[in-house]
Amino acid sequence: MSLLELDGLKVHFPIRKGILFDRVVGHVYAVDGVSLKVEAGQTYGLVGESGCGKTTLGRAVLRLTGITSGEVVFDGTDLAGLDDEAMRRFRRRLQMVFQDPLGSLNPRQNIESILAEGMAAHGIGADREERREKIKEILARVGLPADALNRYPHEFSGGQRQRIGIARALVLEPDVIICDEPVSALDVSIQAQVINLLEELQESLGLTYLVIAHDLAVVRHISDVIGVMYLGSLVEEAPSDALYAAPRHPYTKALMSAVPVPDPDLEDRRERILLHGDLPSPANPPAGCRFHTRCPWVQDTLCATDRPELTDTGDGHRVACHWTAGIEAGTLVRTRATGIEAVTETAAVAEEPEAADAGPAPDLVSGPEPPAPVPGVPAPAAEADPKLPVPGVLGGAPAPGPAGAPGAPPPAGPGEAAEGGHGRTTGGAGQPAADRG
Ligand SMILES: Nc1ncnc2c1ncn2[C@@H]1O[C@H](COP(=O)(O)OP(=O)(O)OP(=O)(O)O)[C@@H](O)[C@H]1O
Ligand code: SF4
Ligand SMILES: [Mg+2]
Repeated sequence: MSLLELDGLKVHFPIRKGILFDRVVGHVYAVDGVSLKVEAGQTYGLVGESGCGKTTLGRAVLRLTGITSGEVVFDGTDLAGLDDEAMRRFRRRLQMVFQDPLGSLNPRQNIESILAEGMAAHGIGADREERREKIKEILARVGLPADALNRYPHEFSGGQRQRIGIARALVLEPDVIICDEPVSALDVSIQAQVINLLEELQESLGLTYLVIAHDLAVVRHISDVIGVMYLGSLVEEAPSDALYAAPRHPYTKALMSAVPVPDPDLEDRRERILLHGDLPSPANPPAGCRFHTRCPWVQDTLCATDRPELTDTGDGHRVACHWTAGIEAGTLVRTRATGIEAVTETAAVAEEPEAADAGPAPDLVSGPEPPAPVPGVPAPAAEADPKLPVPGVLGGAPAPGPAGAPGAPPPAGPGEAAEGGHGRTTGGAGQPAADRG
């Protein structure tokens, strides 16, 4: 059994209206039926556009958000069924590191007080002295000086604050750490240091991570398995290398096509798929396949009516698409203009209404006009330095120079580098998955 298993997890937030008569007029389907497994000692990377439900999923695992239905089985116990006191005991073993290192630290508490608080609450350390020794040990592990104990959060840089957030989780000796966008508020050079620190800690302490990010490049380097979320559910899941080498779901293909490639020649020639339209509201998700309003391969049958299940397509690859086989075999043609057609046919295509609509989707792809493709050049499988997260997959920034070597010392004091502050079927292989049995 896996250390952490989600089975059909749903979190629906009610939308209320009225002052005198409070009525529920709908729901935000933030997480809508997610099943996944996180193996002990491994890292599961969860990616997707802003608002697709990543944070809500993480919070639901810790029961910081109410669960509508489904199971969260941790070490054999379904957390969804626990009362508050039982859940409190489990919470020590499941910790969260938040995106905003400053916002998640109480500015009026010094670091010792912040770290000791949770320890005292969970009965870790016999007395203050013992807790202080433990805190010093953990601060050293995360690369912070011992005198950090008496300082306050505002006295640290963003990267150091994130180390404090990680230390706060570590002092409780957790089994699982959910890292919600652990580096997205940090300067690029500091991002690499924090990611490398997380990897080192995992190796030495045997930690299990669920890493949430909107940046595919960040999760690639740290994850064993990656799940891609779209509008509250997983559309694809695969071992990290397999997902990057050959994404199978149209949405993942689009995400991957936006990953910058370090090789300038390949970067110039790579295909970029720009999606049609905006991300629909999770309060009113499309029927059928939730991606059908934007999918470049959308078909006349099934897509708009039947919701595809996440189905194993071999090699541990799970994909939620009725037409995976046809798309893989190349027997299904794209039914919507994407960036690639727009570039290939240059100005002529730009005047077609469909192509005009097919501009970059918010948060998904930004940046310059996509380069012209070269026939036969597949979507990129970036061979970046595994220790070098490339930022901006959903934001489009190019790769920076190398930074943050493994084991690099923490940034020193106030002089540390500045933080970011913040359809048509054309062949037999195009059988819908449902028909393939
Ligand atoms: N407490 C809440 N009440 C109502 N709706 C909520 C609540 N929390 C989140 N949502 C909604 O649920 C959806 C998913 O939000 P969530 O924060 O999980 O997305 P996300 O993938 O983490 O996005 P981001 O990448 O921007 O952090 C959003 O539409 C959000 O507005
Ligand atoms: S089921 Fe249809 S709309 Fe959904 S991803 Fe597959 S081809 Fe696209
Ligand atoms: Mg979030």
